Amino acid sequence: MKYSEYSVVVIGSGAAGLYAALKIAQQIKLPEGILLLSKSTLGTSNSKYAQGGIVGVMHRNPDDSVESHIKDTLKAGAGLSDEKVTEEISSASDAVLNDLITNGVEFDLDENGNLTFTLEAAHSVKRILHSGGDATGKGITEGLAKAVKSNENIHILENAIAVELLITANKECRGVIIYNKQTEEHEIIYTSAVIIATGGTGQVYKYTTNPLGATGDGIALAYEAGALIEDMEFIQFHPTALALSPESRNRFLISEAVRGEGAKLINKNGEEFMAKYSDKKELAPRDVVTRAIFSEMKKENSDNVYLNAAIIGKEKLSKRFPTISKTCKENGIDITETPIPVAPAAHYTMGGIKAGVNGTTSIKGLYAIGEAACTGLHGANRLASNSLLECVVCAYELADYLSFTNLNTPKVIDEGIKKMIDVYSRSIIGDEYDTSTLSSRLKNIMWDYVGIVRTEESLLKAQKEVEKLQADFKRRRKCLNQNEYEYRNMLTVASLIIRSALARKESRGAHCRSDYQQTDTVGQHSVIDKLSEEGLCYVK
Ligand code: FAD
Ligand code: SIN
Repeated sequence: MKYSEYSVVVIGSGAAGLYAALKIAQQIKLPEGILLLSKSTLGTSNSKYAQGGIVGVMHRNPDDSVESHIKDTLKAGAGLSDEKVTEEISSASDAVLNDLITNGVEFDLDENGNLTFTLEAAHSVKRILHSGGDATGKGITEGLAKAVKSNENIHILENAIAVELLITANKECRGVIIYNKQTEEHEIIYTSAVIIATGGTGQVYKYTTNPLGATGDGIALAYEAGALIEDMEFIQFHPTALALSPESRNRFLISEAVRGEGAKLINKNGEEFMAKYSDKKELAPRDVVTRAIFSEMKKENSDNVYLNAAIIGKEKLSKRFPTISKTCKENGIDITETPIPVAPAAHYTMGGIKAGVNGTTSIKGLYAIGEAACTGLHGANRLASNSLLECVVCAYELADYLSFTNLNTPKVIDEGIKKMIDVYSRSIIGDEYDTSTLSSRLKNIMWDYVGIVRTEESLLKAQKEVEKLQADFKRRRKCLNQNEYEYRNMLTVASLIIRSALARKESRGAHCRSDYQQTDTVGQHSVIDKLSEEGLCYVK
């Protein structure tokens, strides 16, 4: 097999991966350079589609403080957000956002040239920075991609998917096997540090706001390698995705910021209903709004409710929400006049690879940042716009950590690694699987039985069905192509979500069990350890 060597390999080129590669290149002199790997093209990611904004606890905002941001984050996290982690991330926000601006990211300014701060649900003050009105992710990824492209220490490899981590017999990560779509060959990359920045798992659900690439690859790879995986049962369902028809599965997001600016949720009779569910009405935490909509839809036996944005006013709507206005218009909805049909959709993975704020995981040489990681910031329910903040702060802290780490160790090919390489050197037997049909089945199972409200019965049903899909798909390791790899990984993350959801016999944040409606007094994290006999346990 063809091989190459780099000091650092970053898997994924969303906000977390782009910024990590840039900061490492800026801070550390690396003779072997950095490889930035993307299974699609640079900047094609969930990050690109982020709308509402990024939390900026900025010194120049007199209304805000780290304490206030911590309080809001912990409250939304329903007893599972880690206070120390939240403080670290919140405190770093000012320096990191200023550094983003220095590196070419542009945030929206007011007429006096000052940053503008907006409000989103469950934030007690206006602290959300945005770019291009409602195109914050595009602003951040395009700014960072430009800086990355002009840095000669970063080697970019697009259309290449990471498929297996190279782990030594003494549990150290020393590289990765990739499938290069251009050559249709597998290749080995040896390195001293593998950074997983592969994003979330939204695609395992029938309805999602996530783009096609969000198949949980990094989480699946890390799990198979024996890394600890935490809190996978906590999947955030965004309350308001554009629901044009039951057939439209990959759904365009109608940002929470629209509710932040005053839009109201109404049922099919035009009645506002949020007051029945929370005194914060439309600005209640995401899990509360999602369940309220879910309950209204059930009561009315309808596929959606509506968001009345017209009350915001024509001028503000087109200035603040150009992307949403345009996309709705392209779909025949003039949001200045007509209520938008909306319904919940899988949006964000709170759990993931257990990692510190500096990206360190339970495996030496393996790091995880961004949505693929679980630092403990989001707990059981992520506060809006905290994700992009976590991506950039953790990338920044990781670069700092690596600047004190030896990144130029010689390549290692021990017995453990030889065995893995051997698997990928062999030919594949059998025809290509129809992964489109198979993943549709998986998505339906996850939506119907592991969705917004779960029960023991529904989860056991899902487990049985997913186990059957796993047994029918014979490729555990080497696959034929990207589609098969993504399907393999989706099966793995689906089973991790189900196992954790079955084990959590309580309702907390985004994990709602109608058979266990109470919230336990002490919040505990679920941890899956492939290498231990217990498999899944709880820790404080
Ligand atoms: P991603 O941006 O998802 O990037 C993952 C990268 O990894 C991609 O480049 C992908 O191609 C690559 N990749 C994946 N697997 C492999 C593999 N096996 N091999 C090689 N490459 C791989 N959060 C906020 O804070 N504010 C918002 O306003 C906001 N709005 C959102 C709107 C939408 C529609 C969505 C979907 C999410 C939104 N979020 C928002 C959440 C936020 O955008 C994401 O959590 C965040 O961008 C994740 O960034 P990331 O870098 O971790 O992963
Ligand atoms: C949104 O704009 O509603 C998404 C914000 C987020 O996911 O944090």
